[in-house]
Amino acid sequence: MCGIVGFIGKEQAAPIILEGLAKLEYRGYDSAGVAVYDGESIKVEKAMGRLKVLEEMTHYGSTLPGTIGIGHTRWATHGQPSNINAHPHLNAKGTISVVHNGIIENYLQLKNRLIRHGYEFQSETDTEVVAQMLDYYYSGDPLEDIVKVLHRIEGSFSLGIIFSEQPDAIYAVRKSSPLIVGKSAEGSFIASDVPAILKYTRKVYYLGENEVAKLTCDDVTFYDADGEQIEKEPVEIKWDAEAAEKGGYEHFMLKEIYEEPKAVRETLMPRIKDDRIEIEELKLTDEEIRKIPKIHIVACGSAYHTGVTAKYVFEGMGRIPVDVDIASEFRYRDPLLSEEDLVIVISQSGETADTLEALRIAHKKGCKVLGIINVLGSSISREADMVMYTWAGPEISVATTKAYSAQLAALYLLALKFSYVKGAISDQELAAYIDDLKRLPDQIELLLGGKERIQRFANRYVAAKDVFFIGRGIDYAISLEGSLKLKEISYVHSEAYAAGELKHGTISLIEEGTLVAAVLTQKDLYQKTMSNIVEVKARGAFVLAVTNEGNTEIEKNADYVIYIPETNKYFANSLAIIPLQLFGYYVSVGKGYDVDHPRNLAKSVTVE
Ligand code: AGP
Repeated sequence: MCGIVGFIGKEQAAPIILEGLAKLEYRGYDSAGVAVYDGESIKVEKAMGRLKVLEEMTHYGSTLPGTIGIGHTRWATHGQPSNINAHPHLNAKGTISVVHNGIIENYLQLKNRLIRHGYEFQSETDTEVVAQMLDYYYSGDPLEDIVKVLHRIEGSFSLGIIFSEQPDAIYAVRKSSPLIVGKSAEGSFIASDVPAILKYTRKVYYLGENEVAKLTCDDVTFYDADGEQIEKEPVEIKWDAEAAEKGGYEHFMLKEIYEEPKAVRETLMPRIKDDRIEIEELKLTDEEIRKIPKIHIVACGSAYHTGVTAKYVFEGMGRIPVDVDIASEFRYRDPLLSEEDLVIVISQSGETADTLEALRIAHKKGCKVLGIINVLGSSISREADMVMYTWAGPEISVATTKAYSAQLAALYLLALKFSYVKGAISDQELAAYIDDLKRLPDQIELLLGGKERIQRFANRYVAAKDVFFIGRGIDYAISLEGSLKLKEISYVHSEAYAAGELKHGTISLIEEGTLVAAVLTQKDLYQKTMSNIVEVKARGAFVLAVTNEGNTEIEKNADYVIYIPETNKYFANSLAIIPLQLFGYYVSVGKGYDVDHPRNLAKSVTVE
């Protein structure tokens, strides 16, 4: 996610802005910039890379004198990370400057209209379109101009705006993407999140949907989408600085679990248009897709687990052969690839050494490589032939949650696209699948509402020594991830087993009170897994079942049941994983561990 900070008041703006942006670094970014009005015009400085580059370039802001300014850390969406694409953006005359977080969905249409009116653009960004639109509608009354533009841009965004011809105010706009306003004796602030301004004020206003704020040195006023003034009550921030960076959550992991609905929605929705799947990044014609004989999915850890799920989805839905490999195995077994095969590498960080090497091996064997990546500008994203980004935003906690869910969403879209192009599913089937996909974010939201019940259950297992996760088909893939989440942050030994495999040895480990988490989302496999539950119960296990709403027969055998909303069987992982992520989280919290920084682990394994 991008970061926005703005200030107008009695102090120099640039140092305050830079310090605020530093507090937003956790959001991840690839470039940064600051625009300050110096009494005559708007001066802008931008830099690729870490904020430190901009700090050193501007001598911590001293080369940008002025008491009104806006700043930004960019998490690239439209347009590669570059100085040109970094914010703030200006209109051609340099009299209007804009910073932006989010996505302007209709920016191309607006950009083309402005080009027809003679406007020229410097960057590839959607943000520059806003600056030029404000110029196009400029009337000398910034609020009036902003309201006009607000009614014409679509998407989820927050904006910070300054006008050199009205330098007594900063304007802020919010549509879906959070933005706060702060007030102190020194002046007035805008920021994407509380940490950026907590040093100066604990009195903040949360901008609401389609609301506009006007900030002067001494005052802040608010307006609705029609420019009518509205009253807003300030909120007193009680967090400490560290907590605030987690948005009030105790750990980044819980914050990121709560961001899963948004991560899935933002990965899905830009690629679903009028009941069609449109994946711009997939530079393959339908004919080329039809010619792909086999897909090889290669990844590590949780990313590998999404690949295991994808095998069931591609093969079940589209009868498309898929091999799934752990990257560290793939790279050393001289894999059998044909040049027509497609290789898909999945990586949140885009820096995992084994996955990067797998990509290079695929290239050496003549294959095209599609990367499903969360970090723009990462090594894998630079070397892949095509990149389908997961729009999960930066993931701070070592244990992946929202990126995992976004990876699943991306893989569903690919499976649907390939299945449809290959004629394996009809228009009607595609429309039904898309309906189910669109419901996932709200269904995840619903499951998050059950966190207290899961926390109470988890507290009973903080002393657990062994936990087994079992499932068949996609339920096995879910078990793999559920097990990893538990062990990597709570250090409780855990194994995931294909439920039908348990009796071939491992069932000898089941003792009185051993926790077995059984996953049953695949209706055609219910009875088979139910018989495995009976087997482990007979040996003393305590069975937690995660299953579809309505499968109440499970209560005859399972000791504790978590129900998930009904969805298409291929998408069940996206729902069943939520209670399992929360289970692992609360066991770790119950043990008093540092959930976000588990021992021995790094967020990105850049060595083999
Ligand atoms: C998952 O919670 C772990 N952090 C780990 O398994 C991770 O998924 C794996 O290291 C792959 O990382 P990547 O997605 O950045 O390539």
